[in-house]
Amino acid sequence: MNIIDIINQKRLKQELSKEQIEYVVKEYTNGTIKDYQMSALLMAICLNGMNDEEVFALTNAMYCSGETLDLTSIDGIKVDKHSTGGVGDKTTLILAPLVASLGVNVAKMSGRGLGHTGGTIDKLESIPGFSTIMSLEDFTQQVNQIHLALVGQMGNLVPADKKIYALRDVTGTVESIPLIASSIMSKKLASSAECMVIDLKVGEGALIKTKEDARSLAHFMIKIGNQYNRKVVCALTNMQEPLGTHIGNALEVQESIEFLKGNCQKDLYELVLTLGSIMVHMALSISEEEARKKLEENIHNQKGYEKWKEFISMQGGDLEQLTLAPKVFSVKSTKTGYIQKIHTMKLGEIIRAIGAGRYQKEDSIDYGVGMILTKKVGDFVMENEEILKIYLNQKDMTIGSILECFEIGTHYVEPEPLIYEIIR
Ligand code: URA
Repeated sequence: MNIIDIINQKRLKQELSKEQIEYVVKEYTNGTIKDYQMSALLMAICLNGMNDEEVFALTNAMYCSGETLDLTSIDGIKVDKHSTGGVGDKTTLILAPLVASLGVNVAKMSGRGLGHTGGTIDKLESIPGFSTIMSLEDFTQQVNQIHLALVGQMGNLVPADKKIYALRDVTGTVESIPLIASSIMSKKLASSAECMVIDLKVGEGALIKTKEDARSLAHFMIKIGNQYNRKVVCALTNMQEPLGTHIGNALEVQESIEFLKGNCQKDLYELVLTLGSIMVHMALSISEEEARKKLEENIHNQKGYEKWKEFISMQGGDLEQLTLAPKVFSVKSTKTGYIQKIHTMKLGEIIRAIGAGRYQKEDSIDYGVGMILTKKVGDFVMENEEILKIYLNQKDMTIGSILECFEIGTHYVEPEPLIYEIIR
């Protein structure tokens, strides 16, 4: 087999065989196929797509490229949740302990921030002492003991995705439905969850910009899951504006704690309850309405908050030491009117620029920096009234570029619904 023929075939919109796809994944992972050849093929896939059979073959070849996590020593069903990434998306920090407080096993591996979007592992590492590395034995033991453990990537899982993803990140080939579907699903299959809810973010602040693309991605992921006997539910959710009010690692931990104590932002509340009800329904075989009631109860009686504290302390975190950046500035509107739009990706880029994210793998993160939004889409703001607070350590920020992220006009704009649709 020859990589140049394979590239040409995809360039000419022809279908690749299972054997060709297996060859590419194997030989790229072991270094025989070079980055420049793989980049050309990835771009051809981006432009010309893949059919169902090709996506199944790609997912399987990636899944088989490394180890599979053996979680058989965990008693009972394990549920997983994955988000395709957004700005201010701290849902996992809230959902994982809340669902676990009902006795549902959450044995979760999460990722770091990617581009302008944040990552759960970075957020948790803003808590001094918190460890995101654990042996498989400690991980399974902790899930059996408290129903929850959350770590970074463990073992040599899906090395093909590690390599291909890093290459996609720097070759303009991230936003491809077949590539996203195979990347996410190969990792989910290797991490052995029986049921999963995928929060498929749609909109300006997300990787997927349109509902049509999101639907097509959801169908791929559900079909792949079904082939391996895994239950997959996809929620298409709004990422036209940041989720909740806090953006930045330690700030998002702070908002999650407030949520679990019962001080919940409306949009975040709706998302947590929708995704949580599906997870609990899948794990405990009760109706989603009943699951929702149980989750609401555990917010109000603070059992979710108790589970959060137990989980953080089991993994070594000291919440007393959580620190925010010391320089806090109020950013004020120069206009009177309604907030009609927030340019979420631009705002995410600003957060990254002040130190909350990385430009290179080796960059260190400034955990305490970020923003708290005082106004969101649909809110009225007076000239000289605060729109947000910004938390900085070292780097200065021009207020003008932050204000450019907000469109303010004379007529009221209804915020879009948070949950667009659920695909099962
Ligand atoms: N998350 C992933 O893990 N892979 C993608 O390709 C996109 C989002």
